[in-house]
Amino acid sequence: MTPVSVDFTNMMAPSLGGVGVDPGEMGGALAEAFRKAHEDVAGRRDAGEMGFFDLPEATASASAIQDLADSFGQWFENIVVLGIGGSALGTTTMRDALLGPHWNELDEEARDHYPRLFVLDNVDPRSVAGLLDRLDLRRTLFNVVSKSGSTAETMSQYMVVEGRLHEVLGEEPTKGHFLFTTDPEAGILRKIANDEGVPALEVPGNVGGRFSVLSAVGLLPAAIVGIDIGEVLRGAREMSERCRTPILAENPAGILATLLHHADVFQGASIHVLMPYCDRLRSFAAWFQQLWAESLGKAKDREGRDVNRGPTPLPALGATDQHSLLQLLMEGPRDKVVMFVSVGGARDPVEVPRIREEFPALSYLGGHTLEELLDTERRATMEALRQQGRPSLSIDLDDLNPHTLGALFMLFQVATVYAGSLYGIDPLNQPGVELSKRLTYGLLGREGYEEPTLWTGDASWRV
Ligand code: PA5
Repeated sequence: MTPVSVDFTNMMAPSLGGVGVDPGEMGGALAEAFRKAHEDVAGRRDAGEMGFFDLPEATASASAIQDLADSFGQWFENIVVLGIGGSALGTTTMRDALLGPHWNELDEEARDHYPRLFVLDNVDPRSVAGLLDRLDLRRTLFNVVSKSGSTAETMSQYMVVEGRLHEVLGEEPTKGHFLFTTDPEAGILRKIANDEGVPALEVPGNVGGRFSVLSAVGLLPAAIVGIDIGEVLRGAREMSERCRTPILAENPAGILATLLHHADVFQGASIHVLMPYCDRLRSFAAWFQQLWAESLGKAKDREGRDVNRGPTPLPALGATDQHSLLQLLMEGPRDKVVMFVSVGGARDPVEVPRIREEFPALSYLGGHTLEELLDTERRATMEALRQQGRPSLSIDLDDLNPHTLGALFMLFQVATVYAGSLYGIDPLNQPGVELSKRLTYGLLGREGYEEPTLWTGDASWRV
């Protein structure tokens, strides 16, 4: 078995009592639709529009990132990433998946003397001040990550931090506490880096925010906290190779994209739930949410016609959400596909002791590991959905490590661009977020932006 595989048994009509995909279509209409999407993506890739495909090959830049990380890592107790959206979610995912969600609570020895890693991905003042008040800023490195170098949230965080550093450091220059990750040429961060000698890494021009986790955006913080970025890239490279084939049945990203698109457009299942049975992948589901939503939710198709297309991603967590979402998934509208994610390679199994044997309602649990319980619940839930004729996919990792996480990132990135092609939209842009940005700039008085009048409605429409 490959380290990461996709099982689509429960998308097929024979598994679901008739609803679902006819096996004949897999070699027919769906195979042909995918072949065209594959050709379209290959064309855009060859034209240099999809730089994320090339990131795993950029070994020289990965070793420069590693060298920089090695030179920084020992000096700092804390690394704080200032960024939002695609500039933040990949880093949080790598930290949580590979170091565990409780990394920052471990003491220095348990962290093997690597720094703590925080990601400030919002401007909620309580979170920002709450974190800055807690950290020893003299021993903190701030990695400001912004492709555009102009995002209001990230730039204001940067300015707040610089102000705080001035207070703490006095006359000492602050630049040793900053490291920028930004566009190679454009934007204010690049200008400050050039003018003031702040070290700055590049996000390649043809790599968009939500496709940037395998660039310096995700790799630098990962390397600073000791994650094996070479393995992350190797896993991504192997997955990218597996996704080169135009044969649908052999292409894991093609299967994901084609079946999810089909479920949405032909079966009315437009809500795509990603449900890992693994706490360490909770952040991965949030990363997927942004990738799928921002890439595929579009007003216009590539010919400029109004279409208002796009599936709705929904992050979930097994087994926790079996006690929250599952009722809806089982009995609510037939508008969902669940993607289960399983993780093998159990370490440090926790066994439920054989105690309380006098109670049959407890004794059946004794002797099983929590791993077994989690996995049994996943399999039982998949089967329960199947028995109700509700489609699901299973993405199975033989272990959760840098290699399989790299593969998983690449699998979903490639699936996203295939899906974009199947929907007929451009997955690489995000025109829908621009209006809100422009209004914000106008309201805050940014030069060149007119102050808008916000529609406030009628006073009687408030209770
Ligand atoms: O995927 C995207 O393009 C966005 O989510 C961006 O990552 C986000 O808006 C932050 O942009 P920037 O990196 O330019 O600050």
